[in-house]
Amino acid sequence: DDLEIELDEHSGDAQRLRLAAEQLRTSDVPVSFPTETVYGLGADATRSAAVRGIYKAKHRPSDNPLIVHFASLEQLRAVLRPSRHTEKHANGQNGHEELRDPIPDIYKPLIKRFWPGPLTIILPNPPNSPLAPEVTAGLRTFGARMPRHVLALALIKLANVPVAAPSANASTKPSPTAAEHVAYDLDGRIETIIDGGPCDVGVESTVVDGLSQPPLVLRPGGISIEQLRSCSGWENTEIGYKNAAELDSQPRAPGMKYRHYAPRATVVLFEAGQNPPSTAELQIFLGPSAKLGLVRTKRWEVQPGNYNDTICALPASQANGVPPAIESGRSETPGFAGLLETLQSTRAPREAIQTHAISAAGLQFTLLDICLGLDIASIARGIFAALRELDKENVDAILVEGIDDAEGETAAAIMNRLRKAAEVKIAG
Ligand code: TXA
Ligand code: MG
Repeated sequence: DDLEIELDEHSGDAQRLRLAAEQLRTSDVPVSFPTETVYGLGADATRSAAVRGIYKAKHRPSDNPLIVHFASLEQLRAVLRPSRHTEKHANGQNGHEELRDPIPDIYKPLIKRFWPGPLTIILPNPPNSPLAPEVTAGLRTFGARMPRHVLALALIKLANVPVAAPSANASTKPSPTAAEHVAYDLDGRIETIIDGGPCDVGVESTVVDGLSQPPLVLRPGGISIEQLRSCSGWENTEIGYKNAAELDSQPRAPGMKYRHYAPRATVVLFEAGQNPPSTAELQIFLGPSAKLGLVRTKRWEVQPGNYNDTICALPASQANGVPPAIESGRSETPGFAGLLETLQSTRAPREAIQTHAISAAGLQFTLLDICLGLDIASIARGIFAALRELDKENVDAILVEGIDDAEGETAAAIMNRLRKAAEVKIAG
């Protein structure tokens, strides 16, 4: 299960990674690194002062537990089996006896199938755990994940410590999917960002709890409940997070909700199947900047003309012909061959923003339109960046055309994050 990473010892990249690893091991200022999902803000999970540095840099409330990242199963076992030595002597008759694997059996099929990758598992935190108490925020369990991004794995391996890491955004802001998002949020509060270019997945890992009966999905991500249910012991897996059905639906009227993943502008989420807003509805969201952002995904079309034909809801059949207008991120995690190049690419792929001057029914405003395209994977890759880009344009509100959860786990993950980001939700 161990990972082979070949690194040219003398390259500048190897030296930079080694410096970052050294910083992780010794400093109390966290280091940001890319994973395949979003950028993480990492610290040595065994040192309290280092873990406190994460909460400090993010301004994150300390009752929210962190995920611990590992580069090998041996590294994970060392956390689960802190008293390895005594156990060996107590149990072994001749010193050669096999040790019981401390990884609970329920997780074996998942680890085999999905690690390294965007899956976080909840494990019991053992007595005498080497993890700093700040990691678990007082819980008797901890979240563990083995990312598949080669830079994340290399960093953890070089640091040779388990790495606690939340997403590297300032608390309440959208998760960062490019190094420049991290720099924008945390500039002046951290010293090192390892730049691996834009993230491949774009939404955070699926979090599962196999210690509960039935097993639960605590946070949706790219791994579907069907994929989980096809694993031995996971046949009865249930959803343990709020889905659309449990949300109070607001019949096309504003309402306040908790904030998370949220830009500065008010996010107005139109659930899948809702028509675009009327002029009267738009008026509600316009503020002093007279600018509205629009993030489209599928059925809406923006055309020049009077407002009423400006944002049109197309019949679903026609919608399939709408071309994606966004440069999509890389589809594969970079290998070390491309490392030099990716370490130098500090920019996120620019979302193509189209600007429309709108005047209708006495209203005059600018509509900044981003189309993320039809493909769910590219919507996932681009959604947090789109919210950030529009925020930088100082729009009063961002209208988001939602997608149907039923299109798959990634769609459900996107909508889960958008519902948390939205202050206003428009449902049927
Ligand atoms: O993709 C990801 O998971 C990213 C990258 C950086 O790995 N990390 C990430 O971390 O999203 P964060 O801190 O933003 O989210 C951690 C999630 C939260 O929903 C938290 O409540 C849950 O994991 N979590 C952590 N430990 C837990 C525990 N012991 N029991 C239940 N949930 C836990
Ligand atoms: Mg987060």
